[in-house]
Amino acid sequence: MPLLTATDAERTIEFEFVRATENAALNSLQWLGRGEKEKADAAACDAIFGVFDLVDICGEVVIGEGIKDNAPGIFLGDHLGTWREGSPRFEIALDPIDGTTNIAQGLPNSISVMAASEASAAHPHVMKNLPTFYATKLAYGPEVVDAIERGMEPVSLDEPIEHTLNKLAKALGKRVRELVVMTLKRDRHADFIAAVRNAGAALRLISDGDITAAVSPSLADNDVDLFYGIGGSPEGVLTAAALRALGGDMLLRMWPRDEAERAAALKEVGEEELLRVFHCQDLVWGGSCIFCATGISDSPLLPGVKLKGKKAITHSILMRARSRTVRYIRAIHDLEEKTIHLRSEKAERKL
Ligand code: FBP
Repeated sequence: MPLLTATDAERTIEFEFVRATENAALNSLQWLGRGEKEKADAAACDAIFGVFDLVDICGEVVIGEGIKDNAPGIFLGDHLGTWREGSPRFEIALDPIDGTTNIAQGLPNSISVMAASEASAAHPHVMKNLPTFYATKLAYGPEVVDAIERGMEPVSLDEPIEHTLNKLAKALGKRVRELVVMTLKRDRHADFIAAVRNAGAALRLISDGDITAAVSPSLADNDVDLFYGIGGSPEGVLTAAALRALGGDMLLRMWPRDEAERAAALKEVGEEELLRVFHCQDLVWGGSCIFCATGISDSPLLPGVKLKGKKAITHSILMRARSRTVRYIRAIHDLEEKTIHLRSEKAERKL
Protein backbone atom coordinates (compact mmCIF):
# COMPACT_ATOMS: atom_id res chain seq x y z
CA MET A 1 0.00 0.00 0.00
CA PRO A 2 1.42 3.41 -0.89
CA LEU A 3 1.92 5.68 2.09
CA LEU A 4 0.10 9.00 2.29
CA THR A 5 1.78 11.79 0.42
CA ALA A 6 2.56 15.08 2.10
CA THR A 7 -0.10 16.92 0.08
CA ASP A 8 -3.10 14.78 1.03
CA ALA A 9 -1.99 13.67 4.47
CA GLU A 10 -4.00 16.11 6.56
CA ARG A 11 -7.23 15.60 4.62
CA THR A 12 -7.01 11.84 4.90
CA ILE A 13 -5.73 11.58 8.40
CA GLU A 14 -8.21 14.03 9.95
CA PHE A 15 -10.89 11.35 10.29
CA GLU A 16 -8.57 9.19 12.37
CA PHE A 17 -8.51 12.03 14.88
CA VAL A 18 -12.30 11.87 15.07
CA ARG A 19 -12.12 8.13 15.64
CA ALA A 20 -9.58 8.75 18.41
CA THR A 21 -11.61 11.36 20.31
CA GLU A 22 -14.83 9.34 19.76
CA ASN A 23 -13.19 6.25 21.23
CA ALA A 24 -11.72 8.28 24.08
CA ALA A 25 -15.18 9.61 24.88
CA LEU A 26 -16.80 6.18 24.63
CA ASN A 27 -14.13 4.46 26.69
CA SER A 28 -14.14 7.07 29.46
CA LEU A 29 -17.93 7.34 29.71
CA GLN A 30 -18.01 4.36 32.10
CA TRP A 31 -16.36 6.71 34.66
CA LEU A 32 -18.91 9.52 34.40
CA GLY A 33 -19.98 10.48 37.90
CA ARG A 34 -17.91 7.81 39.66
CA GLY A 35 -15.40 10.11 41.35
CA GLU A 36 -12.45 8.52 39.55
CA LYS A 37 -10.94 11.17 37.34
CA GLU A 38 -7.63 9.36 36.86
CA LYS A 39 -9.38 6.21 35.71
CA ALA A 40 -11.44 8.26 33.24
CA ASP A 41 -8.26 9.89 31.95
CA ALA A 42 -6.46 6.56 31.67
CA ALA A 43 -9.37 5.10 29.67
CA ALA A 44 -9.31 8.06 27.26
CA CYS A 45 -5.52 7.84 26.81
CA ASP A 46 -5.65 4.08 26.22
CA ALA A 47 -8.22 4.57 23.45
CA ILE A 48 -6.28 7.39 21.75
CA PHE A 49 -3.03 5.43 21.78
CA GLY A 50 -4.97 2.39 20.55
CA VAL A 51 -6.43 4.18 17.52
CA PHE A 52 -3.09 5.61 16.44
CA ASP A 53 -1.32 2.28 16.91
CA LEU A 54 -3.05 1.36 13.64
CA VAL A 55 -2.43 4.59 11.73
CA ASP A 56 0.58 5.29 9.54
CA ILE A 57 1.77 8.63 10.81
CA CYS A 58 4.80 9.80 12.74
CA GLY A 59 2.95 11.75 15.41
CA GLU A 60 4.87 13.44 18.19
CA VAL A 61 3.06 14.84 21.19
CA VAL A 62 4.33 18.37 21.74
CA ILE A 63 1.54 19.43 24.05
CA GLY A 64 0.41 16.64 26.30
CA GLU A 65 -1.17 16.38 29.71
CA GLY A 66 -0.85 14.48 32.89
CA ILE A 67 1.49 16.66 34.91
CA LYS A 68 -1.39 18.10 36.90
CA ASP A 69 -2.51 15.66 39.64
CA ASN A 70 0.15 13.17 38.46
CA ALA A 71 -2.64 11.74 36.34
CA PRO A 72 -1.91 8.94 33.89
CA GLY A 73 -1.51 10.58 30.56
CA ILE A 74 -0.08 11.08 27.14
CA PHE A 75 3.01 13.16 27.68
CA LEU A 76 5.29 15.53 25.85
CA GLY A 77 7.49 13.50 23.51
CA ASP A 78 5.17 10.47 23.36
CA HIS A 79 4.73 8.98 19.93
CA LEU A 80 1.38 8.38 18.24
CA GLY A 81 1.07 6.33 15.06
CA THR A 82 3.08 3.48 13.65
CA TRP A 83 6.08 5.61 12.68
CA ARG A 84 6.36 3.50 9.57
CA GLU A 85 9.08 4.87 7.34
CA GLY A 86 7.78 7.46 4.90
CA SER A 87 4.67 8.28 6.97
CA PRO A 88 3.77 11.97 7.29
CA ARG A 89 5.02 13.79 10.39
CA PHE A 90 2.60 15.60 12.66
CA GLU A 91 3.06 17.58 15.82
CA ILE A 92 0.16 16.82 18.12
CA ALA A 93 -1.48 18.65 21.00
CA LEU A 94 -4.09 16.84 23.03
CA ASP A 95 -6.15 16.77 26.15
CA PRO A 96 -7.70 13.28 26.28
CA ILE A 97 -10.27 14.80 28.66
CA ASP A 98 -10.68 18.51 29.20
CA GLY A 99 -12.86 18.57 32.28
CA THR A 100 -11.71 15.48 34.18
CA THR A 101 -13.20 16.87 37.39
CA ASN A 102 -16.49 17.34 35.56
CA ILE A 103 -16.43 13.71 34.41
CA ALA A 104 -15.65 12.48 37.90
CA GLN A 105 -18.53 14.49 39.33
CA GLY A 106 -20.95 13.67 36.52
CA LEU A 107 -21.11 17.34 35.54
CA PRO A 108 -21.47 18.91 32.09
CA ASN A 109 -18.61 20.31 30.03
CA SER A 110 -16.14 17.56 29.34
CA ILE A 111 -14.69 16.80 25.92
CA SER A 112 -11.90 14.76 24.43
CA VAL A 113 -9.80 16.99 22.22
CA MET A 114 -6.83 16.84 19.84
CA ALA A 115 -5.08 19.15 17.41
CA ALA A 116 -2.36 18.38 14.89
CA SER A 117 -0.26 20.21 12.37
CA GLU A 118 1.99 18.73 9.74
CA ALA A 119 5.72 19.22 10.26
CA SER A 120 8.50 18.74 7.75
CA ALA A 121 12.27 18.90 7.50
CA ALA A 122 11.97 22.55 6.50
CA HIS A 123 9.48 23.28 9.33
CA PRO A 124 10.26 20.76 12.08
CA HIS A 125 8.25 22.63 14.74
CA VAL A 126 4.77 24.00 14.23
CA MET A 127 3.29 24.35 17.74
CA LYS A 128 4.34 26.24 20.85
CA ASN A 129 4.92 24.34 24.04
CA LEU A 130 4.52 26.97 26.75
CA PRO A 131 6.64 26.40 29.86
CA THR A 132 4.17 27.83 32.39
CA PHE A 133 1.29 25.77 33.71
CA TYR A 134 -1.21 28.63 33.32
CA ALA A 135 -1.75 31.43 30.82
CA THR A 136 -4.05 34.44 30.65
CA LYS A 137 -6.37 34.12 27.67
CA LEU A 138 -8.80 36.49 25.97
CA ALA A 139 -10.70 34.87 23.11
CA TYR A 140 -13.10 36.50 20.69
CA GLY A 141 -14.89 35.69 17.47
CA PRO A 142 -14.42 36.46 13.76
CA GLU A 143 -16.57 39.64 13.82
CA VAL A 144 -14.15 41.20 16.28
CA VAL A 145 -11.18 40.06 14.18
CA ASP A 146 -12.82 41.69 11.13
CA ALA A 147 -13.49 44.93 13.01
CA ILE A 148 -9.84 45.08 14.08
CA GLU A 149 -8.74 44.44 10.50
CA ARG A 150 -11.02 47.25 9.37
CA GLY A 151 -9.28 49.68 11.72
CA MET A 152 -10.86 49.27 15.19
CA GLU A 153 -8.27 49.65 17.95
CA PRO A 154 -7.23 46.09 18.88
CA VAL A 155 -8.32 44.63 22.20
CA SER A 156 -5.56 44.22 24.76
CA LEU A 157 -4.80 42.13 27.83
CA ASP A 158 -3.58 45.27 29.55
CA GLU A 159 -6.60 47.53 29.16
CA PRO A 160 -9.43 47.70 31.68
CA ILE A 161 -12.13 45.18 30.77
CA GLU A 162 -14.63 48.05 30.35
CA HIS A 163 -12.59 49.21 27.33
CA THR A 164 -12.56 45.72 25.85
CA LEU A 165 -16.31 45.45 26.32
CA ASN A 166 -16.90 48.81 24.61
CA LYS A 167 -14.86 47.67 21.61
CA LEU A 168 -16.67 44.37 21.51
CA ALA A 169 -20.07 46.07 21.67
CA LYS A 170 -19.08 48.26 18.72
CA ALA A 171 -17.77 45.33 16.68
CA LEU A 172 -20.83 43.18 17.38
CA GLY A 173 -23.45 45.93 17.10
CA LYS A 174 -24.69 45.28 20.63
CA ARG A 175 -25.00 47.26 23.84
CA VAL A 176 -22.54 46.39 26.59
CA ARG A 177 -25.37 45.05 28.72
CA GLU A 178 -26.24 42.61 25.94
CA LEU A 179 -22.74 41.10 25.94
CA VAL A 180 -22.09 37.71 27.49
CA VAL A 181 -18.67 36.95 28.96
CA MET A 182 -17.55 33.49 30.03
CA THR A 183 -14.86 32.68 32.56
CA LEU A 184 -13.75 29.95 34.95
CA LYS A 185 -15.16 30.38 38.44
CA ARG A 186 -11.92 30.85 40.34
CA ASP A 187 -10.88 33.19 43.16
CA ARG A 188 -8.11 34.55 40.96
CA HIS A 189 -10.82 36.01 38.69
CA ALA A 190 -12.66 37.90 41.46
CA ASP A 191 -11.60 41.38 40.28
CA PHE A 192 -12.38 40.55 36.68
CA ILE A 193 -15.82 39.19 37.60
CA ALA A 194 -16.63 42.31 39.59
CA ALA A 195 -15.45 44.59 36.76
CA VAL A 196 -17.58 42.78 34.15
CA ARG A 197 -20.65 43.01 36.39
CA ASN A 198 -19.90 46.65 37.09
CA ALA A 199 -19.73 47.37 33.38
CA GLY A 200 -23.18 45.81 33.02
CA ALA A 201 -22.34 42.76 30.88
CA ALA A 202 -23.61 39.28 31.76
CA LEU A 203 -21.34 36.54 33.03
CA ARG A 204 -21.40 32.81 32.54
CA LEU A 205 -19.21 31.14 35.16
CA ILE A 206 -18.03 27.61 34.48
CA SER A 207 -16.46 25.18 36.90
CA ASP A 208 -13.95 23.57 34.51
CA GLY A 209 -13.15 23.10 30.85
CA ASP A 210 -12.01 26.35 29.29
CA ILE A 211 -11.41 25.08 25.74
CA THR A 212 -15.13 24.90 24.96
CA ALA A 213 -15.55 28.26 26.66
CA ALA A 214 -12.80 29.97 24.65
CA VAL A 215 -14.02 28.48 21.37
CA SER A 216 -17.65 29.54 22.01
CA PRO A 217 -17.40 33.18 20.83
CA SER A 218 -16.19 31.93 17.44
CA LEU A 219 -19.05 29.52 16.81
CA ALA A 220 -21.71 30.64 14.33
CA ASP A 221 -24.59 29.96 16.72
CA ASN A 222 -22.83 31.05 19.90
CA ASP A 223 -24.40 32.92 22.76
CA VAL A 224 -21.06 33.93 24.31
CA ASP A 225 -19.24 37.03 23.08
CA LEU A 226 -15.97 36.89 24.98
CA PHE A 227 -13.90 34.44 26.98
CA TYR A 228 -11.38 35.64 29.52
CA GLY A 229 -9.47 33.72 32.12
CA ILE A 230 -6.31 32.30 33.57
CA GLY A 231 -6.36 28.62 32.72
CA GLY A 232 -4.13 25.83 31.46
CA SER A 233 -1.46 26.74 28.89
CA PRO A 234 -1.90 23.47 26.92
CA GLU A 235 -5.62 24.23 26.66
CA GLY A 236 -4.60 27.59 25.19
CA VAL A 237 -2.67 25.95 22.36
CA LEU A 238 -5.55 23.59 21.61
CA THR A 239 -7.89 26.58 21.54
CA ALA A 240 -5.54 28.35 19.13
CA ALA A 241 -5.81 25.47 16.65
CA ALA A 242 -9.61 25.66 16.80
CA LEU A 243 -9.71 29.43 16.40
CA ARG A 244 -7.41 29.30 13.38
CA ALA A 245 -10.02 27.13 11.71
CA LEU A 246 -12.95 29.28 12.88
CA GLY A 247 -11.45 32.69 12.09
CA GLY A 248 -11.58 33.95 15.68
CA ASP A 249 -8.53 34.90 17.69
CA MET A 250 -7.13 34.83 21.21
CA LEU A 251 -4.56 36.87 23.10
CA LEU A 252 -2.49 34.68 25.41
CA ARG A 253 0.28 35.51 27.84
CA MET A 254 2.04 33.10 30.16
CA TRP A 255 1.03 33.41 33.82
CA PRO A 256 3.62 31.90 36.17
CA ARG A 257 2.00 30.57 39.34
CA ASP A 258 4.78 31.70 41.65
CA GLU A 259 8.33 33.01 41.76
CA ALA A 260 9.82 29.56 41.26
CA GLU A 261 7.84 29.01 38.08
CA ARG A 262 8.65 32.54 36.86
CA ALA A 263 12.37 31.92 37.42
CA ALA A 264 12.23 28.55 35.62
CA ALA A 265 10.34 30.07 32.67
CA LEU A 266 12.73 33.02 32.48
CA LYS A 267 15.62 30.59 32.27
CA GLU A 268 13.90 28.61 29.53
CA VAL A 269 12.46 31.33 27.32
CA GLY A 270 13.77 34.71 28.52
CA GLU A 271 11.88 37.81 29.59
CA GLU A 272 10.67 38.97 26.18
CA GLU A 273 8.94 35.65 25.49
CA LEU A 274 7.51 35.43 29.01
CA LEU A 275 5.88 38.84 28.59
CA ARG A 276 4.89 38.30 24.98
CA VAL A 277 1.24 38.41 23.96
CA PHE A 278 0.67 35.52 21.57
CA HIS A 279 -2.04 35.33 18.92
CA CYS A 280 -3.36 31.97 17.66
CA GLN A 281 -1.05 32.00 14.66
CA ASP A 282 1.97 32.38 17.01
CA LEU A 283 0.94 29.28 18.97
CA VAL A 284 0.13 27.00 16.03
CA TRP A 285 2.01 28.32 13.03
CA GLY A 286 2.02 25.38 10.61
CA GLY A 287 0.56 26.08 7.15
CA SER A 288 -2.60 24.36 8.37
CA CYS A 289 -3.88 22.46 11.39
CA ILE A 290 -6.61 20.07 12.40
CA PHE A 291 -8.78 20.48 15.49
CA CYS A 292 -11.08 17.75 16.61
CA ALA A 293 -13.19 17.15 19.72
CA THR A 294 -15.89 14.76 20.90
CA GLY A 295 -18.34 15.60 23.67
CA ILE A 296 -18.30 13.36 26.73
CA SER A 297 -20.81 15.32 28.79
CA ASP A 298 -22.83 18.25 27.36
CA SER A 299 -20.88 21.45 26.70
CA PRO A 300 -21.42 24.73 24.83
CA LEU A 301 -19.43 23.18 21.97
CA LEU A 302 -20.93 19.69 21.71
CA PRO A 303 -23.57 17.43 23.21
CA GLY A 304 -22.17 14.61 25.31
CA VAL A 305 -22.42 10.89 24.57
CA LYS A 306 -26.04 9.69 24.59
CA LEU A 307 -26.84 6.07 25.34
CA LYS A 308 -30.04 4.77 23.74
CA GLY A 309 -30.57 1.07 24.34
CA LYS A 310 -27.82 -0.77 22.50
CA LYS A 311 -26.60 2.35 20.71
CA ALA A 312 -24.27 5.15 21.73
CA ILE A 313 -24.51 8.48 19.93
CA THR A 314 -21.42 10.70 19.82
CA HIS A 315 -21.10 14.29 18.64
CA SER A 316 -17.79 15.55 17.32
CA ILE A 317 -16.46 18.64 15.64
CA LEU A 318 -13.66 18.44 13.10
CA MET A 319 -12.09 21.41 11.40
CA ARG A 320 -9.09 22.41 9.40
CA ALA A 321 -7.41 25.78 9.25
CA ARG A 322 -6.51 25.54 5.56
CA SER A 323 -10.05 25.06 4.25
CA ARG A 324 -11.88 26.44 7.29
CA THR A 325 -14.34 23.59 6.86
CA VAL A 326 -16.15 22.84 10.09
CA ARG A 327 -17.75 19.42 10.28
CA TYR A 328 -20.16 18.34 12.96
CA ILE A 329 -20.17 14.56 13.04
CA ARG A 330 -22.99 12.70 14.74
CA ALA A 331 -22.10 9.03 14.92
CA ILE A 332 -24.32 6.16 15.99
CA HIS A 333 -22.33 3.28 17.41
CA ASP A 334 -23.91 -0.16 17.69
CA LEU A 335 -22.63 -1.37 21.03
CA GLU A 336 -23.33 -5.00 20.16
CA GLU A 337 -20.98 -4.83 17.19
CA LYS A 338 -18.54 -2.02 17.91
CA THR A 339 -15.03 -2.73 19.05
CA ILE A 340 -12.28 -0.27 19.89
CA HIS A 341 -8.56 -0.88 19.71
CA LEU A 342 -6.83 -0.30 23.04
CA ARG A 343 -3.10 0.15 23.56
CA SER A 344 -3.28 -1.72 26.89
CA GLU A 345 -4.67 -4.84 25.25
CA LYS A 346 -3.01 -4.48 21.85
CA ALA A 347 -6.33 -5.74 20.50
CA GLU A 348 -9.88 -4.80 19.64
CA ARG A 349 -12.27 -4.90 22.56
CA LYS A 350 -16.04 -4.53 22.88
CA LEU A 351 -17.17 -1.53 24.84
P1 FBP B 1 -8.23 19.03 33.00
O1 FBP B 1 -9.55 18.38 32.96
O2 FBP B 1 -7.42 18.69 31.78
O3 FBP B 1 -7.52 18.79 34.27
O4 FBP B 1 -8.45 20.62 32.91
C1 FBP B 1 -9.62 21.24 33.39
C2 FBP B 1 -9.43 22.75 33.42
O5 FBP B 1 -10.63 23.36 33.89
C3 FBP B 1 -9.01 23.37 32.09
O6 FBP B 1 -10.05 23.47 31.15
C4 FBP B 1 -8.49 24.69 32.55
O7 FBP B 1 -7.64 25.28 31.57
C5 FBP B 1 -7.76 24.32 33.82
O8 FBP B 1 -8.36 23.10 34.29
C6 FBP B 1 -7.84 25.35 34.89
O9 FBP B 1 -7.01 24.95 35.94
P2 FBP B 1 -7.43 25.02 37.49
O10 FBP B 1 -8.54 24.02 37.70
O11 FBP B 1 -6.19 24.67 38.21
O12 FBP B 1 -7.91 26.41 37.75
